[in-house]
Amino acid sequence: MWGSAKEKTTPVVFEVRAGEVIVRRSSRGRAIIRRLSNGSVHALPFLRWAGGKQWIARLSQHLLPPNFTGKYFEPFLGAANLFLALKPTRAVLSDINQDLICTYRAIANDVEGVIATLQQYAFNKRFFLAMRKKRPRHPIRVAARFIYLNKTAWNGLYRVNPLGQFNVPYGGHRNLRICPNDRLRGASSLFHGATLLEGDFERSVSDAASGDFVYLDPPYITGHTNNGFLSYNARLFSWDDQVRLSVVAKRLAGKGVRVLVSNANHPAVSQLYDGFFHYVVERNSLIGGWEGTRGRVSESLISSFPLIGVQSEVL
Ligand SMILES: C[S@@+](CC[C@H](N)C(=O)[O-])C[C@H]1O[C@@H](n2cnc3c(N)ncnc32)[C@H](O)[C@@H]1O
Repeated sequence: MWGSAKEKTTPVVFEVRAGEVIVRRSSRGRAIIRRLSNGSVHALPFLRWAGGKQWIARLSQHLLPPNFTGKYFEPFLGAANLFLALKPTRAVLSDINQDLICTYRAIANDVEGVIATLQQYAFNKRFFLAMRKKRPRHPIRVAARFIYLNKTAWNGLYRVNPLGQFNVPYGGHRNLRICPNDRLRGASSLFHGATLLEGDFERSVSDAASGDFVYLDPPYITGHTNNGFLSYNARLFSWDDQVRLSVVAKRLAGKGVRVLVSNANHPAVSQLYDGFFHYVVERNSLIGGWEGTRGRVSESLISSFPLIGVQSEVL
């Protein structure tokens, strides 16, 4: 067991609201344990991402282990919400999506080149369809195309067919805006100082050592529709991968690495993380992506150390 609490109690609930985060003892319990300040977020993500953790920026200051000075690892990077909120000085960032990592490298190395290229693009269906067919090789053009498709494709979805061709339809957004240049510039200096890797999570975290912090945010399990995550994740990340992830998380925790996992709030997932602390996050969200309806969702945060000093269930 990596946690210190002995009693099995109901998991602590973080209720993420617009202006604050409320910490309660359980879903039904009304007693508030703590109110957390939202903290200020300086660097904002510039991609929309399926399963992106925009909400985590509000909790970010409460998720790091106390007096953290080690290296930060984020191997399921996506839109990099937690990295951009925490701005750690030493970081190893990775994702299995090669074009995504190529985009971050280009933003780190020549953000003005990416901005200048994006400014040449037209935001209409004809241009989108032409851009979708292209397979540029130069990193600046890969990055500009990636950001462009992320803004213009349906729901910002990233999906390729077995030949690696991007096949998401046009989003048909009204009032489409190119991504703000200040966000790209703000992210550039942060990514410049980080190590960016492409590939599977297990290899990316293999060098994490005692005192480091690893944040694991895999594609969520499917069949858990109340989180609104997309069924194409099933092909990206199987149940065997979820089990492999929990084994890696336990191996890291055993080495003294501080581990935080976000995942679906589902008993099958919780059972994989015996010995970890378990928190529930409740919030309002769009169900079914950016164009869906509003609803209440609940997710899990699972950590090898107690968050914000609140005693919680040890699984
Ligand atoms: C839920 S998203 C991460 C979202 C991110 N935390 C954010 O806030 O935007 C999961 C990410 O895992 C990546 N991924 C899927 N399978 C992977 C694997 N085996 N190893 C590493 N990354 C993987 C996907 O490309 C996707 O970007």
